[in-house]
Parts: sequence; structure tokens; C-alpha cells
Amino acid sequence: MSTPIVNLHDHERAAQAAMSDAAWAYFSGGAADEITLRRNVQAWQNLGLAPRVLQDLRGGHTRCQLLGQTWPMPLLVAPMATQRWAHADGESGMALAAAAQGCGMVLSHQTSTDLSEVARLVVAEKDRGPLWFQLYGLNDRGALLDLLGQVEAAGYEALVLTVDAPVQGVRDREHRHGTAWPEGIRTPHWPVATPSAGDNGLCAGLAAQAPTWAVVPWLIEHTRLPVLLKGITHPEDALQAMALGAAGVVVSNHGGRVLDTLPATAELLPAIADVVRPLGGAVLVDGGIRRGTDLFKALALGADAALIGRPALYGLAHGGARGAAHVLRLMRDEFEMTLALCGCPSPQAITRGHLQALPALPVM
Ligand code: GLV
Repeated sequence: MSTPIVNLHDHERAAQAAMSDAAWAYFSGGAADEITLRRNVQAWQNLGLAPRVLQDLRGGHTRCQLLGQTWPMPLLVAPMATQRWAHADGESGMALAAAAQGCGMVLSHQTSTDLSEVARLVVAEKDRGPLWFQLYGLNDRGALLDLLGQVEAAGYEALVLTVDAPVQGVRDREHRHGTAWPEGIRTPHWPVATPSAGDNGLCAGLAAQAPTWAVVPWLIEHTRLPVLLKGITHPEDALQAMALGAAGVVVSNHGGRVLDTLPATAELLPAIADVVRPLGGAVLVDGGIRRGTDLFKALALGADAALIGRPALYGLAHGGARGAAHVLRLMRDEFEMTLALCGCPSPQAITRGHLQALPALPVM
């Protein structure tokens, strides 16, 4: 009998066994020495909880408010490229899993499934979470306008502009295994940029396609959807985003995939939440969240909600939509238990006072 899968670590092991070496390298890998990748996970683990006992938990719930709406859970699936490479259920399976568990989904600009098809499956679900679309930005404003029209018509509720990856970063694991997508995987909304002749060097080639601050007001002007900036790691950038009219920020180091030795998002979050929340902006965070206690800690540090990427992808990779749904179900159950055990009847009751710093343990 195979070992039962009871947590996200079990899902990760099952995914590795099910995936090709190249897919495993792409989805699980990080930048360079993967210091940020590991630190993201460790930083949540290194925070101690400070529960309060004998609280009245009757009528408790996990509901949260995001961009003026109430949702069942403060958790969304992070944008991740080419999910059909992980499993044939792809982005459709992921969206169904998220909706079934009351979690949100941010569809990647590099989706391997048409954005309208994904939305059509879930948009009318009553108890789903938010449905957002992630953008890398496009230099071709005409193509961008056309894409915005499709995103809005399909029923997406916010745009998430990724701002931390003007170039891809050093990906040693991918370089070892090759980065070519298998036959049959397409990205219908992402024109694979080919640097033109004479584009020598990163800043003339890849980075020439990347968004700059100028695109933020342009985007806000040309869409009726709220715009969040993802990949914010500096409070000054968070303030600039809010000054330009962003609806909020996602504190993210791109899952440790772009610039290695950045601090963990658990370390970056409080200073950014402290400047964005007083302005009424939404604050989200991703990176290294593997337990319901991690999600609780994210909210305690000032996030309105968190995103998980790799764990949901791992569930999808070995179990299709049902595997991804199981990952999100585990997160829900663990989060609910953490709320109760910390004496919080709802996410709104969580404060920084529910955390305490842990001194480093002596090395034995
Ligand atoms: C894309 O966003 C990647 O990190 O590969």
C-alpha cells in the first residue's frame, strides 16, 4: 500500500516521482544557489506563534475582504506558467480545484490554456475565490489593449502586473535539463519574444520588452479592473505603486526564481504592509508557504491574503485537478485549525501580537 498523502511535503515527493526531470527542474527550481528559495520556507518556520486561550470561537469563519469583496478564504493560487506541462488538466484543472476549495486563482500571462476557457469553467461558481489575471506587460500597446479586452470580457476581476523579472535570472537547474517546452504546449496569450538582430546584451534585448513605471498609469487608465503590482520588495516601490493608483501590491521575490539572496518574503512583508495598509491598498504575499500556520503568520504580519505556487502545482502534477484540490483543502483545514488554536474566530482577529520572535536554537 502506498503511503497516504497527508501534507504538502508528501505532495511534493509524489510530484517529483511523477514529473520528467526537465519539468521538475523548471517548476521546483530557483535562481542560482537557491538561497532565497530555501529562505522563503525557513523564514515562516522561524516565526513563533503566540496563541491566546479560552477565546469565544463560536461563529468562526475563514472569510476575508479583498478589493472590496468578501471571499471564502485568504488564499489564492499564484500565477504559474505552462501548467499543462505539469499535467494534462493544466490551468483548467487548477481553476476548478481552486474554485472547489473557495480559493482564488491568478492565471498566468504564460498560461497554456486559453484565458476565456479557464474563466468559463469557474466564473459562475458561487463559492469560489477571486479570479485574477497576471501580466508581464507587452511593449506592443495594441496587443496589450486587445488582451485587456479579452481578460475583462472573460470575467477576470483584477490584473496583477509582475514587475520583478525584466530578465529571467540565473537558472542553473533549468540550464542542466533544457528549457524547451514539450511538443503540444503553447502559450496562446504570450508572444515568445525574439530579440531582434543587433540586440546585444540584456538591456538591449530581453529587458527592452520589460515594463517600466510608465506602464502602470497607462494600464490603470486603459482598464476598468483594479491593478496590483507583484514582485514588490521595497517599501519605496510600494509607495510609488500606490501613488500611481495601484489597488495593492504582492510582496514577492518570484518564489526565489529570479534574484538569489533576496530576503524571504516573510522578512520583507511587515515594512511594506506598514506603508500600504494605511493607504487602503491590498497587501498579498507569496513564497514558501507550506502550512496553515504559515498562512496565519502572513496575515499576522499584515497581509490580507497569501498565494501558493509550487505546492498547488505539485498536487496538479501527480493528481490532476483532484491533487491540486487536495493541496488547497489541506491548507484550508490547517489554517482553520491554526485560527482556532491561536484563539482567533476569523482572519480579522489575527494581529502581530499572535507572533513572537524565536531565538535561534543552539546547533547540537
Ligand atoms: C516565470 O515566471 C518563471 O518564473 O519561470
